[in-house]
Amino acid sequence: MSTVNITIDGKKLQVEQGITILEAARQANIKIPTLCFLKDINEIGACRMCLVEIKGARALQASCVYPVAEGLEIYTQSPDVREARKVTLELILSNHDKKCLTCVRSKNCELQNLAEELNIKDIRFEGASIDLPLDDFSPSIVRDPNKCVLCKRCVSMCKNIQTVSVISAAERGFKSTISCAFDRSLEEVPCTMCGQCISVCPVGALREKDDTDKVWSALADKELHVVVQTAPAVRVA
Ligand code: FES
Repeated sequence: MSTVNITIDGKKLQVEQGITILEAARQANIKIPTLCFLKDINEIGACRMCLVEIKGARALQASCVYPVAEGLEIYTQSPDVREARKVTLELILSNHDKKCLTCVRSKNCELQNLAEELNIKDIRFEGASIDLPLDDFSPSIVRDPNKCVLCKRCVSMCKNIQTVSVISAAERGFKSTISCAFDRSLEEVPCTMCGQCISVCPVGALREKDDTDKVWSALADKELHVVVQTAPAVRVA
């Protein structure tokens, strides 16, 4: 195994050639925030939360896709890096449905955790935000595009791992979405309902359908019906 010598935050490291800066940092217990990255599933450098500064480089680089090289000097917590991550996160949040209190992923949401970690107290960038219809026609999966952070983890899982390929990225810029072809519902495409897209979603954009309320109300109706049917006749004196 050939190795290279690098420095991360002043720590000298000898690491395997070909791994990414993110992997090298993780091996050295140096934390770099990530959002779109999912090892071996989604390594596309989309969200830019993992930006780091490399001495001599003209711009900040996404550590999840940047391979280590001999002599690299990397800084994961410089003022520029921290500011860039914060602005990126604020921009993601500015176009995110913020009904966190009622979201199934509240307290188990990677976006919420990042906001806490980066000490986001308010959203500086208010403006237009997407407002797309909820796709809850599938018997088992609900897709809420207004909570999507466009990390594409679900796309990679569906396409590359499950080889089903029913969801993909569509449109460009502000209109970008993750959706089924021709804007169809998950119910109208050959989704196998494996649920793996839900397991990799970092937020509440994909969730299991919870029909508990409907079941309870159906049961309640049934019971009521039974009660009505079996209630003893009341004698009127
Ligand atoms: Fe590296 Fe998203 S985690 S770009």
